[in-house]
Amino acid sequence: MLSTPEVLRRTGGKPVKSIVFDEATIAARVEALGAEITGAYPDGELLVLGLLKGSFIFLSDLVRTIERPVQIDFLVASSYGDGTVSSGAVRLLYDPETRLEGKHILLVEDIIDTGKTLQRLMTLLGARRPRSLAVCALLDKQLAVESRPELRFVGFRAPPAFLVGYGLDHAENYRHLPFIADLA
Ligand code: IMP
Ligand code: MG
Repeated sequence: MLSTPEVLRRTGGKPVKSIVFDEATIAARVEALGAEITGAYPDGELLVLGLLKGSFIFLSDLVRTIERPVQIDFLVASSYGDGTVSSGAVRLLYDPETRLEGKHILLVEDIIDTGKTLQRLMTLLGARRPRSLAVCALLDKQLAVESRPELRFVGFRAPPAFLVGYGLDHAENYRHLPFIADLA
């Protein structure tokens, strides 16, 4: 367990198991992703679409490393089904106001687990006739499920643990941690 004063002040006294990605490691990887994204879109309009809430810190760091014009909007998706098992159905609680038609859309997500939500979102957004539609995920748990969406840009492969920090939460806590930690 990790119980340095810096951790405990932020968590209200609860230790975390370990820091999986520290601030410097995240910053270096985000910088590299930004360069990759800049190179991947030589022309056209690029709309960076953040999936709230988990992507908010990653997105804000990422867009500042992209050296070409971008537009930014967000969406809020909600899975619904029987409540306990994800049905894979999705609806938008906040729909981006920005037009998607004819633009390169880069969907930014914090972490991909089964990818079910994302798969449905891709179908929904694809129907709005964007010029291209790609995903940038900070973390990929790489679970083997059928019909997993293609992840064009990935920050890190994530261990099979429950991660918090840098936008990721546990019951809305820990999103503000500047590093990514294994909570267990
Ligand atoms: P999926 O639809 O199964 O891919 O679920 C992905 C969503 O589950 C992410 O956007 C997160 O909100 C949440 N999630 C999955 N794994 C973690 C984790 O380790 N920590 C925090 N949230 C997670
Ligand atoms: Mg999320």
